[in-house]
Amino acid sequence: MIDQNEEIKIIIAIDGFSSCGKSTLAKALAQKLGYTYIDTGAMYRAASLYFLEQKIDTDNQSEIEKALKEIKIEINRSDQGMITLLNGKNVEDEIRSMRISNVVSEISAIPEVRKNIVAQQQLMGARKGIVMEGRDIGTVVFPEAEIKIFLTASPQIRVQRRYLELKNKGKNMTLQQVRKNLEKRDLLDSTRSHSPLRKAEDAIEIDNSQLSIDDQVDMILDLIQVKLLKTNTDL
Ligand code: C5P
Repeated sequence: MIDQNEEIKIIIAIDGFSSCGKSTLAKALAQKLGYTYIDTGAMYRAASLYFLEQKIDTDNQSEIEKALKEIKIEINRSDQGMITLLNGKNVEDEIRSMRISNVVSEISAIPEVRKNIVAQQQLMGARKGIVMEGRDIGTVVFPEAEIKIFLTASPQIRVQRRYLELKNKGKNMTLQQVRKNLEKRDLLDSTRSHSPLRKAEDAIEIDNSQLSIDDQVDMILDLIQVKLLKTNTDL
């Protein structure tokens, strides 16, 4: 068994397409291990909100660079779980809106935006003890992460999950609108030229279409056990 007080800290990278349940899994794992959980999509969403609000011209290099200098994104623990702050303001609710979902993949494909946000993520994980989820964590942000998971789920299940998630937040979208948004983001995220979404060669793929969250957590805890045992015998 993993002793939660043990001081071995690792990096767990979880990547995958939109609405595969990465956040739910990452949150549950982090809680179990006493690790920090970082939803990197929230960071790209917060940057996108800033770009929209300030009407940044995404074809204008100097405007982009100036904007990036003015953006401060924080992910803080609160009574409502982790919340995202943009320049000190809680934007957690706003960044989950369709207005942001519709532009985030274009904005996150801009190389300067990625460089800036990846550097912040690397700082956040420098002391390990972190579960970070996104699209390029195992390939670009932490290619040396001890555990890399590539999460998948069937398209129907992903649409259904996202639809229910939005509905529970009082956002009225049709299944068709949700499907279109997921398809568009998946395509843009996996075909962009800078750090596209792809499975790292050493990532373990888990299809969670039929798995409970406890099943998934247990699978990953087993993987960590094996990894740590192997590391100890390699020493
Ligand atoms: O995870 P979430 O669906 O909230 O991410 C929103 C968008 O942010 C993704 O569709 C993708 O365009 C971008 N993203 C990214 N790299 C990450 C995390 C998210 O490009 N590591």
